[in-house]
Amino acid sequence: MKYLIGVDVGTSATKTVLFDEDGAVAASASREYPLYQPENGWAEQRPEDWRDAVLATLKEVTDRSGVPAGDIKGIGISGQMHGLVMLDGKGEVIRPSIIWCDQRTGREVEDMLEIMPRERWIEITANPPLTGWTAAKILWVRKHEPENYSRCRHILLPKDYIRYVLTGEFATEVSDASGMQLLDVPGRCWSKEVLKALDIDESMLGKVYESCQVTGTLLEQVAGKTGLTVDVKVVGGAGDNAAAAVGTGIVKDGTAFTTIGTSGVVFAHTSKVSIDPKGRVHTCCCAVPGAWHIMGVTQGAGLSLKWFKDQFCQDYVAQAQAMGCDVYDLINKDVAEIGPGSSRLVYLPYLMGERTPHLDPDCRGVFFGLSAIHTRKHLLRAVMEGVSYSLCDCNEILKEMGVEVTQMMACGGGGKSPVWRQMLADLYNCTVKTVEMDEGPALGAAILAGVGCGIYPDVETACSRIIREKSSTEPVKEEAEVYAGYHRIYQNLYRSLKDDFKALAGMKG
Ligand code: XUL
Repeated sequence: MKYLIGVDVGTSATKTVLFDEDGAVAASASREYPLYQPENGWAEQRPEDWRDAVLATLKEVTDRSGVPAGDIKGIGISGQMHGLVMLDGKGEVIRPSIIWCDQRTGREVEDMLEIMPRERWIEITANPPLTGWTAAKILWVRKHEPENYSRCRHILLPKDYIRYVLTGEFATEVSDASGMQLLDVPGRCWSKEVLKALDIDESMLGKVYESCQVTGTLLEQVAGKTGLTVDVKVVGGAGDNAAAAVGTGIVKDGTAFTTIGTSGVVFAHTSKVSIDPKGRVHTCCCAVPGAWHIMGVTQGAGLSLKWFKDQFCQDYVAQAQAMGCDVYDLINKDVAEIGPGSSRLVYLPYLMGERTPHLDPDCRGVFFGLSAIHTRKHLLRAVMEGVSYSLCDCNEILKEMGVEVTQMMACGGGGKSPVWRQMLADLYNCTVKTVEMDEGPALGAAILAGVGCGIYPDVETACSRIIREKSSTEPVKEEAEVYAGYHRIYQNLYRSLKDDFKALAGMKG
């Protein structure tokens, strides 16, 4: 039996899973790390924390599984998209990474639109300039921290920094590179026109591979530290959403998934480049060679629930520890006691601004309709419903673009919640399914490694061998009717508050 490792460098933790070639988990390990928010709307993490988490979890899975090192053939890395990692000439990290949900670059996005018309950005990069994407962050560092920029020799995405740590190679792959706003997305290569317009030297960027191509092998010192061999191949891997697609079998036209992790994403596979002219959803290369995907993104999905839990539910955390269960199981149980609509309470999940459908770095979270009748359970349910309204907006745009979805999977931490899946089924008015292996991006990355190592002939064949459906949630008509009314209020609220959000962003304090 041959084995493969999938590593997912997430926002709350890195998860590393060792799979056998049939997709069964041999061992799994994860390590959490902090998110730093030096200012309202900023978000940073330390690449060194990701590195330490990856090396420690690789060692843990090889030690714990007892699998002979020689049987582990490949590693696939997946990770949070868009983060900026800058390295100096010696390969040292210059500053903390400015990550995907950071919203400091409103001014730089305006600068990008002055440099090149919006339509041309969309033609080349398949997306309009976006605050959370890497190019705007590079411009921000160049303007605000010229001394850091002048030392920078390598620009990498989070998971590609890990590739550098593991293999010594500076490289990326098409799915994650699509989120830098420097890639010619239809052509799947760096755009010379964009690099020239932004005055970014191509030598700072890694070589671009397809997701299942081999990009290098393990460095000797890494093999020594992790219990692996120097023959282990590291493939391109994928951005977390493209990797989750492979891990849930979303590799054909007509298939889609909703993931609720820190962010929330509605993702549909497409065999041709299809672009929203209004730029409300993103078009990126996907991990299947020669194919793309469209995705709508809710910035604060699981992040909203985690924020609420961390700030207001410490007793749940203590209770879960005492009972030896997951704190989110307790939350789900309580939320299920409250009816749809949370007794007339609506939550807007804009803790870190929003992308789909508003592209607004200045909007912020809201509870609307608070009454003395409401308890913490109502607020928790309202948070889950608010995130679901936002995901429903993402799904509506895909429909508007003519993307026919015949199969919708749910995944990520939130996808494990039966209450949350029911909300999605009701709001989307379609069946929402789950798969048996819920390792998502880590499984997807391992499958890509298996293709690169020649264990599977291609991504589609690997998925049909490994991925099996587990559960199915049908919409409930009466609930869907209730949600439809609340969803309209949810949509109106943004329109009513838009100008005040902008004014609030300009306030002192
Ligand atoms: C996608 C996005 C997030 C991150 C974090 O555009 O920003 O989904 O990849 O997981």
